[in-house]
Formats: sequence, C-alpha cells, structure tokens
Amino acid sequence: MNNFTFYSPTYFVFGKDEENKTGEYVKRFNGSKVLIHYGGGSVIRSGLLDRIKKSLDKENISYVELGGVKPNPRSGLVYEGIELCKKENIDFILAVGGGSTIDSAKAIAAGALYDGDFWDFYTDKIVTKALPIGTVLTIAAAGSEGSPDSVITKEEGMFKRGATGEALRPMFSILNPALTQTLPAYQTAAGVTDIMAHLFERYFTTTNDVEVTDRLIEALLITMINEAPKVIKDPNDYQARANIMWAGMLAHNNVCGVGRSQDWASHDIEHELSATYDCTHGAGLAVVFPAWMTYNMKHDIKRFARLATNVFNCKMDNDNPESTAKAGIQALKSFLKSIGMPLTFDEIGAKEEDIPAMAHSACYGNKRTGTLGGFATLTEEDVINIYKLML
Ligand code: NZQ
Ligand code: ZN
Repeated sequence: MNNFTFYSPTYFVFGKDEENKTGEYVKRFNGSKVLIHYGGGSVIRSGLLDRIKKSLDKENISYVELGGVKPNPRSGLVYEGIELCKKENIDFILAVGGGSTIDSAKAIAAGALYDGDFWDFYTDKIVTKALPIGTVLTIAAAGSEGSPDSVITKEEGMFKRGATGEALRPMFSILNPALTQTLPAYQTAAGVTDIMAHLFERYFTTTNDVEVTDRLIEALLITMINEAPKVIKDPNDYQARANIMWAGMLAHNNVCGVGRSQDWASHDIEHELSATYDCTHGAGLAVVFPAWMTYNMKHDIKRFARLATNVFNCKMDNDNPESTAKAGIQALKSFLKSIGMPLTFDEIGAKEEDIPAMAHSACYGNKRTGTLGGFATLTEEDVINIYKLML
C-alpha cells in the first residue's frame, strides 16, 4: 500500500425527509446569502425546490435562484453563475439535483473567488479556494456529493474536463433515497453504471497488497449487482434505493481509492462521447468499460480473473485464467444489458467516423500531453482501438 492522506470533511445527512432541515445546515455552515442552483426542472415538478425554499425561509436566510443546468453541464451557465454571485454578494451555494447541478455549483464556487477564467481549473490548476457548497442530492450516480471533483463541458471546442481540489468538497450533503424514486429507469441504471465505473477505475491498479480497498470495492460492486434489479423492478423500493445511494457516495469520495494507483482512462474516453453526442455519462461508460477491459486484460490477467470470481461468481479456471477473465467481462455485459444499458456505439448514436477526432481530443485536447490511464498507459492509437471495439 502506498502512503496517503485522506480528509473527507463533508457532513452527511441521510434519510427520509431530511431535506426539510436544509436551512439549519446552511446556517450551521455560516451561509447567509445563498445561490440555489438546480437543473432542468425535476426539482420544481417534484415540489422539492419549494420545500427547500421554505426551509431557508424558516431560518431567515435570503437566496437567489439559478436553474437550467443541463446534464453534461456547460461553461455558459457557470459564467452566468459567477457573475450573479459577485453581483449579489453570495456567500453559500446550494446545489439541488444531480451530479451535473453539483458540478456546475462547484465551478461557480471556485470561479466566484478567482480573478482569472474559471476554465483554468479545468485545464491544469488545482482549486484551493471556493465558496462553501451544500448539496441536496436527487440521483445516486456521480458521487459529486462527497468528491473533490467537478466535470464541465466548455462550449468552445466542446471539451469535457474535470477540476479537482479539496476546497470543492461539499460542507454538507443531504441524501434522502426517497427523492430518487421519481427517476426514469434509464437514469437509475446509468447512475448504477457510473457508480460501478468509479469502483472499476480504482480496482484496476498497479499497487500490490491493497487487500482492504480491494475488498471494499468488491463488496460495493456486489451490492450494486444485487440492489439494481430491485429498483428497476420497483422504483419505490426505498431500502434498495438507500443502499445504492450510500454506495454511490462510498464509491467516489475516495475511501476506496487511497493508497493505490488508479486508472481513469475509461472516464476520459467516455467524456469524449458525452461531449460529442450529449449521451448520459453512465450510459457512455456502459459502452466503454467492457471494451477497455477486453483491450487491457493482458496487463494483469489475475486481477481480471479475481474480479470475475469474487464479484461475478465465475468459476476460476487455473489452467486458463484468461477464460475466467473473459467470462467476467461477459457477465458484466449481461448485467448492464439486463438493467437497460447500451453496449455499442450505435445504441448511443455514436459514429465510427468520429473516432480519430475523439481519440485525439482525449489524448491531446485542452493541453493534455498524449497518454491516458494509470493501470495501462494508452496512446492515441490504443484509444482508437478501444473505440473500435465498441462498434
Ligand atoms: O435536470 P433535471 O430536470 O433535474 O433532470 C435530471 C437530468 O435530466 C434528472 N434527474 C435527476 N434527479 C432526478 C431526475 N429526474 C427525476 N427525478 C429525480 N430525482 O436526471 C438527469 C441526469 O441528471 P445529472 O445531474 O446529469 O446526473 P448525474 O448525477 O449522473 O451527473 C452526471 C454528470 O456528472 C459528471 C458526469 O460526467 C456528468 O456530467 N461526473 C461527475 C463526477 C464528480 N463530480 O465527481 C464524477 C463522475 O465520474 C462524472 O464524470
Ligand atoms: Zn463517472
């Protein structure tokens, strides 16, 4: 295991009706003038936004609103939010929604305290200062409610890139699983896929002797495989929703990633798909991951065989571990298909002729330096080959 530091100070508030205490938590973290940030309207339709406003009113906290965050959030609204914060002297940002809304809120929080262009953070600058953020989560997926990361798409060039910095971890996150019961099945399944992807990105490591995090990852993956079919069958299954929601947080606040190298090439490869075709991030990952696994299995066949046996219940073939590894990838594909996820380019509207441009952007766009991945180092040519496996 490698040396590490880990500080994850977010205050989590979990369970039924807890969103009605939002005002109390904003006050606890010294918010007096709040920007409420939300997406395309699900929080209006569900009545959640009204409940949040009532809870702020109860604590005499004033607020302004900025809605309209799109999935795969864009830089345009971030610039608007930064201006609004400066004009209104905002001292706290409250994100009500999913990963896209939280990421947009984080970008605004960083940009509001920075003299330059906020996009610098999505190129190579670490975020060290940001307005405090709180979240009320409505979908289990991105893990942004506990992560120090934010992913934004810059409209000029359509670069989808991440920023990071401990200052981006939310002060508090309110997780009521019941709020996720209104999700369409496709979004639920895409969320499950994203959670699993965050675990795979950490599982595929070059660090030896990381049994504790290996076991945590395996446990969370098994949980997703067991719980996801329950919520696809019955969207109102509160207990299954609860297990998925907490797993989503644990998968990405890095408790499972400390002390080990991680990969993240699949996310970079997917971000080109969601930037180019505006597909749902989790659905893009369902297409990318089996292809990435097939291409990179050769780098550590034992690790792939371990995933197959420990998570997907495949039988170990000691004479031919490659066949066990392949059976694991096949089991992953069957699982993804069973929850309604796509597996090919066609199914997400992606086109073969765009492969060279996407591979180039993934490896060199927005000042990148040529290779991707911490488990297997991928060149532009490797990335092209991986995209081709998705056709
Ligand atoms: O915009 P509204 O109307 O709210 O609708 C959303 C949106 O259309 C809808 N939705 C959310 N909660 C709902 C609901 N509909 C009904 N009932 C509810 N309770 O679902 C759609 C998707 O929402 P979005 O916020 O985009 O989902 P998600 O949480 O999957 O976020 C995806 C974004 O997160 C980024 C992805 O790249 C993508 O841009 N990621 C962020 C990470 C991070 N910050 O740490 C890590 C991830 O790897 C990921 O890259
Ligand atoms: Zn993700």
